Amino acid sequence: MTNELKAVPRHVAIVMDGNGRWAKKRFLPRFFGHKAGVDVLVKVVQACIDRNIEHLTVFAFSSENWKRPSDEVSGLMGLVLAAVSRYLARMGSMGVRIRIVGDREAVSAKLRNAWNEAESATCHNTKLTLSVAFNYGGRWDIVQACKAAMLAGVPPDQLTEAKLSEFMAMSYAPDPDLFIRTGGEVRISNFMLWQVAYTEFVFSDCLWPEFGEAQLDAAIQAYRDRDRRFGGVKAAPAVVAA
Ligand code: FPP
Repeated sequence: MTNELKAVPRHVAIVMDGNGRWAKKRFLPRFFGHKAGVDVLVKVVQACIDRNIEHLTVFAFSSENWKRPSDEVSGLMGLVLAAVSRYLARMGSMGVRIRIVGDREAVSAKLRNAWNEAESATCHNTKLTLSVAFNYGGRWDIVQACKAAMLAGVPPDQLTEAKLSEFMAMSYAPDPDLFIRTGGEVRISNFMLWQVAYTEFVFSDCLWPEFGEAQLDAAIQAYRDRDRRFGGVKAAPAVVAA
């Protein structure tokens, strides 16, 4: 891939980790870290638009986050509901299309309705697609795609990687080029397992509420410096006959 093609990742995926520790450092309840995290997300969406990034996918609530204390879970649900009503119009005027990925069955009808409203109000926007992974897990996605393919009657001998991709929750987006995880942990935590096969990873010690344009640009620069071969080899220099 040429440097020109690599200049801007088309799709950036982010695990926004470190909200709890950010709040703890300030002797605040964890909820305040998540609240600060929402405001940072809005700024990062704008920064991605400014850099011509087409897709931003963020991990807002994993299938495993239900294990957290019930007050934190309900706090996060309330925060997301409040964020939809506070930021939906702004996202619309920024040209953002919102998509929600994840199992919607377990969330409240109120939150489901808010998601539906956010998706339908922004469905014609084209500047950037913000996919919010909520009650999402990479393994859940693979299983739901297999079930959907079976229900659609795809015969086993026609179930190729490309065919299964059509049933994945994010079939509308290219695979992420760049995966960023803040908060110092070096793991995927069940995020987009199928889609990150050839994604470039950047792990940052920065806590999510402290993330900004400088950290985004550093991650993009690290991505540009990588040699993406997608399992192939670097093209050999042309041999000139004597
Ligand atoms: C991880 O930090 C963060 C989360 C589990 C939640 C992230 C959610 C948001 C920023 C809100 C998103 C809202 C919308 C509207 C998309 P942590 O709690 O695991 O932090 P820690 O590792 O320091 O404890």
